[in-house]
Amino acid sequence: MLSYNNPSLVLSNSTEPLTGTVSWKCPSNIAIVKYWGKHGMQLPKNASVSFTLEKAFTNTEIKYSPKDNSENSLRFYFEGEEKPSFLPKIHHFIDRIKNTFPFLRELDLEIHSSNSFPHSAGIASSASSMGALALCFCSLEKEIFGKEETPDAFLKKASYIARLGSGSACRSIFPYASVWGKHEDVEGSDDYFGIAFEENLHEVFKSFRDDILIISKSEKEVSSTLGHQLMDTNIFAKRRFQQASDNLSLLLPILEKGDVEEFGEIAEAEALSLHALMMTSNPSFILMTPNTLKAISRIRRFRKEQKLPVYFTLDAGPNIHLLYPEEIQDRVGEFKKEQLRSLCEGGQILDDRVGLGPKKNEEK
Ligand code: DP6
Repeated sequence: MLSYNNPSLVLSNSTEPLTGTVSWKCPSNIAIVKYWGKHGMQLPKNASVSFTLEKAFTNTEIKYSPKDNSENSLRFYFEGEEKPSFLPKIHHFIDRIKNTFPFLRELDLEIHSSNSFPHSAGIASSASSMGALALCFCSLEKEIFGKEETPDAFLKKASYIARLGSGSACRSIFPYASVWGKHEDVEGSDDYFGIAFEENLHEVFKSFRDDILIISKSEKEVSSTLGHQLMDTNIFAKRRFQQASDNLSLLLPILEKGDVEEFGEIAEAEALSLHALMMTSNPSFILMTPNTLKAISRIRRFRKEQKLPVYFTLDAGPNIHLLYPEEIQDRVGEFKKEQLRSLCEGGQILDDRVGLGPKKNEEK
């Protein structure tokens, strides 16, 4: 079991100045084989694979200084406004990683965060926000203790830490695509952190499109935390974890050879399984709305009639991610305008694509 516990990381052992700023931009990701069900300390019940997005991201900056013992040692600002309501979640996260970064308790932190996507677009931001925070914390360690490590080791630790903030966040740390969770077909895969799936990824997927159809902007009806918990008693759980593992085995060679049709079949089956699990949980949740279903049937009809490889996947919500290769973006653009936009709240569609992963914001 990997552990990053390091009790010597306290300020009295620091080598660098104790005041400064670190800042990272971290994208969101979309799972193709879904993570739904967890155990222990944020460990997945099955391995998952995701695409890293490009345009949906969180920017986070942390200003740090030695604790001056005043009341507010942690302040959080979202899009320029102080948000004390976000603090419990961050405290909880810091609590989980205090053995890795004991020095965090010795600092005053001012965290400034903003998203590239509208706050009320019904897009889950936990992957990008926890990913950005994790990267900032790892940079803090590096700056304060002058720690040198390889870029790979840095990202592995950032993924490990991000997982403790939100499971899916551990996959946002890598360019293009990532696998999280031990799987016999993926060398180096691990329940404790995500790994990059880049070397063997076919070019067609490196520029794949993922347009987010905002079917509804409402807040999520079921938190993922509760959703994962409900898998503990879902009668289909055991079969589901096997299905996810089988789908990953099927998907990996498809991602390597670049077969977009076979990819799309698995992506849609996974999305519908996820929602079937929510519908068969107790209590049960139906998160798709009539417009989600309309969009799905239009996508399938368009695909059949036009013989174009356009597929969908879903998060734990009503919004649709439209997946297709870059080369057909003009044809799909027309389709979105004519048939999908009217199904979206405020006509909103966020055009995104597979991207290059997080980036450190260097001081100007
Ligand atoms: C449906 O990562 O949000 O998006 O670990 O409790 O923070 P926590 O859950 P979270 O769950 C994501 C669920 C999903 C599928 C996925 O991203 O794999």
